[in-house]
Amino acid sequence: MFDAIVVTRDAEGRTHAGLRRLSLDDLPDGEVTVAVDYTTVNYKDGLCLGPGAGLVRKYPHVPGIDFAGRVETSADPRYRAGDPVVLTGWRVGEAHWGGYAQKARVKADWLVPLPEGLTLRQTMAIGTAGFTAMLAVMALEDHGLRPGHGPVLVTGAAGGVGSIAVALLARLGHEVAAASGRPETEAYLRDLGAARIVPRAELAEATKRPLEAEIWAGCVDAVAGPVLARAMKQLKYRAAAAAVGNAGGADVPMSIIPFLLRGVSLLGIDSVLQPYDRRVATWARLARDLDLDKLEAMIRPATLAEVPDLGRAILAGAIRGRVVVSIGD
Ligand SMILES: NC(=O)c1ccc[n+]([C@@H]2O[C@H](COP(=O)([O-])OP(=O)(O)OC[C@H]3O[C@@H](n4cnc5c(N)ncnc54)[C@H](OP(=O)(O)O)[C@@H]3O)[C@@H](O)[C@H]2O)c1
Repeated sequence: MFDAIVVTRDAEGRTHAGLRRLSLDDLPDGEVTVAVDYTTVNYKDGLCLGPGAGLVRKYPHVPGIDFAGRVETSADPRYRAGDPVVLTGWRVGEAHWGGYAQKARVKADWLVPLPEGLTLRQTMAIGTAGFTAMLAVMALEDHGLRPGHGPVLVTGAAGGVGSIAVALLARLGHEVAAASGRPETEAYLRDLGAARIVPRAELAEATKRPLEAEIWAGCVDAVAGPVLARAMKQLKYRAAAAAVGNAGGADVPMSIIPFLLRGVSLLGIDSVLQPYDRRVATWARLARDLDLDKLEAMIRPATLAEVPDLGRAILAGAIRGRVVVSIGD
């Protein structure tokens, strides 16, 4: 028997998340059973711990979109008992039972070996949020962004994706402008490497003008909504924004003009279906380019029992940095 956070749905359609005891027989099908040591709380976890936002189709459900642990049993030759492994994506924790449990069972294809240079705990301090921040930075680099091109804007900067993006970009030599709605996070963001702080309110107001002064050499956007629209209008000629999230709304109120007159690009970032080789390469970049002391400064440690409350907190935009949930026996 082992502990898990189980979400149930009652006859009125209301969901309830709480700690339960499960047995190995309860786990879904999959080739590899993992003893989970660490998991985390991402924005999507907040959704899946609550009403689900259409992501969870079947109840009872075990959420947790990412985890790190050691293989317990494997029917796949790529993994053996004791191997340290990491999982992000593949709709684990949404369509498939996830990491908010001491045991998880998944397809071997969904796992990657623990990246060299990182501990299991550090991989979950990074988690899906940090993995996606790295994908966004790589997409901007592929588009041509180099240090010295000018300031790079990070929106939702004090959140998970934002914090890791700020630390990564600063370490890579970029001048980082951190946009946050929480003035109390200024010292935290400067410690992560932000050279300047942009109050969210400065970007949150929708404007009618199709273009504004050129400011940003690039942008990692976790927020969308009017903030992304404003950032797009302020991109330098031929610069790009990487669209990661929609914590501030799914609609982006802007015209086509910045694309036509400034040749700017909006790069879509998806972390869920990244192929294996790209995952391994992305983790290797994180191991190389993320300052692990800065990562440590982002961590809020937590237990499995705290996860339902943390899910509500992340949806309210009240989590700073990254949560690391210790799960081991
Ligand atoms: N594409 C993918 O594969 C992928 C992967 C991971 C995450 N995501 C998405 O990325 C986003 C961030 O995820 P996360 O785990 O980093 O969440 P998070 O830790 O909650 O960060 C989101 C941040 O956005 C800002 N924010 C919150 N509500 C806002 C609002 N109404 N208007 C403007 N800004 C707001 C807050 O930052 P400040 O307080 O600093 O303003 C908040 O900390 C989510 O939408 C998530 O679903 C997508």
